[in-house]
Amino acid sequence: MRDSRETLTMKAFVAGYPIAHSRSPLIHGFWLKTFGLDGSYEKEEVPPAAFADFITALKAEGRYRGGNVTIPHKELAFALADAPDALAEELGAANTLWMEDGRLNATNTDGYGFLSNLDERHPHWDRAERAVVLGAGGASRAIIQALRDRGISEIHVVNRTYSRAQELADRFGPKIHAHRWDALHELLQDAGLFVNTTSLGMEHGGNTEIDFRPLSNDAVVTDIVYTPLVTPILAKAREQGFAIVDGLGMLLHQAVPGFEKWFGVRPVVDDELRSMVIADMAGKA
Ligand code: ATR
Repeated sequence: MRDSRETLTMKAFVAGYPIAHSRSPLIHGFWLKTFGLDGSYEKEEVPPAAFADFITALKAEGRYRGGNVTIPHKELAFALADAPDALAEELGAANTLWMEDGRLNATNTDGYGFLSNLDERHPHWDRAERAVVLGAGGASRAIIQALRDRGISEIHVVNRTYSRAQELADRFGPKIHAHRWDALHELLQDAGLFVNTTSLGMEHGGNTEIDFRPLSNDAVVTDIVYTPLVTPILAKAREQGFAIVDGLGMLLHQAVPGFEKWFGVRPVVDDELRSMVIADMAGKA
């Protein structure tokens, strides 16, 4: 039996600005129900100027066991944590926080979510020796770190603004190579993995035509955008005969470590969860 004090603190949050459209409460709510846990996961709309006070209260009040932070707070969450782990330290950004022995711990689970999604939906994808990553923003960082840590030997980052790709190559080491957009076609030659981390292909995100035929025959193409589920980039790759993995699983899997930290059980990503989120996206849930 849990005592009342423990029940009171079975709470976690997601803090962002704006936060209304976050699907994280749906995901964690599903797992809380699955396990029959008397906990909660709540949205906290925190404007940028109020985030430092939010963290101070979190440390002082014990209202929450921890939570997720999303745009635009990931960098400040890292900076204000007492004990960021090595992943968050290298990224300079955190998305998962938890209190332990009175200290605020922080990590970043985006890379874990990215890898777990590929592992689940296309096992052995990591036989790829060459990966091409389009985009050099916040999401791209976690993915580059994850690919490097998984042992992919050549990681090529292509970005509209070259200097941002170069910055990532400097940060993440000699396996990472920065390129301008016009190098893309050549880089795809025999690559085993292509990742879109840009908003291209999103609803209203603009579009681009990429010819994937130079990829190796068994290559996988994935997109972190999941609205629509099959982005124009994924549709094109599929039409050209390549395996595709959509980005929804990254969102689902990145939530797993946080839930385990706050609520003490490790949840699984299954078809029921996925279908529920898809139904919500379609406005049917
Ligand atoms: P996130 O944190 O989601 O990755 P971000 O930091 O704003 O968001 O990064 C967005 C990425 O998409 C960047 O790589 C951006 O390219 P720039 O660095 O040149 O801005 C890329 N991007 C966005 N719109 C784009 C477009 N229309 N064409 C090409 N790249 C685009």
